[in-house]
Amino acid sequence: MEALDALLNRVSAPRLLDPAPTAEQREVLFAAALRAPDHGQLRPYRFLTVEGDARHQLGEILAGAVQAQGGEVTPAALDKARAMPLRAPLVVVVVARLQDHFKVPRAEQLITAGCAAHAIELAAYAQGIGAVWRTGELSYAPQVAKGLGLTEGEQVVAFLYLGTAQNELRAAPKVDTAEFVQQWSA
Ligand SMILES: Cc1cc2nc3c(=O)[nH]c(=O)nc-3n(C[C@H](O)[C@H](O)[C@H](O)COP(=O)(O)O)c2cc1C
Repeated sequence: MEALDALLNRVSAPRLLDPAPTAEQREVLFAAALRAPDHGQLRPYRFLTVEGDARHQLGEILAGAVQAQGGEVTPAALDKARAMPLRAPLVVVVVARLQDHFKVPRAEQLITAGCAAHAIELAAYAQGIGAVWRTGELSYAPQVAKGLGLTEGEQVVAFLYLGTAQNELRAAPKVDTAEFVQQWSA
């Protein structure tokens, strides 16, 4: 696939089924992630693959985070959290690893991790793999960070849901670039 095709036409696939990406396809996904622009070559990311029964374990962690939010917690809210990781056969958690650096601010490191997540989405699209990037408030819950084994300076950037798109992908929306581009001069 042409690079421009993926860049211009990638869309998310919200409903995902088996099969999960193959080992060869995953290698391409992560190789693409590692090509994210990276000031200082800090590689400020790592990737956790969650599949099979581990998705249930992640679901329990998410349900625990809902419970920890306090207030009234309904069984339906807990079940919803438990079911989240089951929305795809493979979940890739993109984790940013931020450090104090004399030249590269943490914000730039976070951007690199975001670019890595986007690269995985593009490489998925180019290989015919369905993908959608989700976060939500639970992604930032301390219980989730702890449950995933994140350490100081690490944070979740994306839950990338990957699998086979259940439905035909929609066409990418046409947006007028002129709305977002201004010629600047002082
Ligand atoms: C940081 C980030 C977090 C996101 N979190 C969610 C989310 O929790 N739920 C959701 O439905 N979409 C979320 N999205 C948006 C989808 O991944 C997707 O980009 C959006 O639905 C537009 O669809 P498209 O990718 O086909 O253009 C998130 C996107 C980003 C970049």
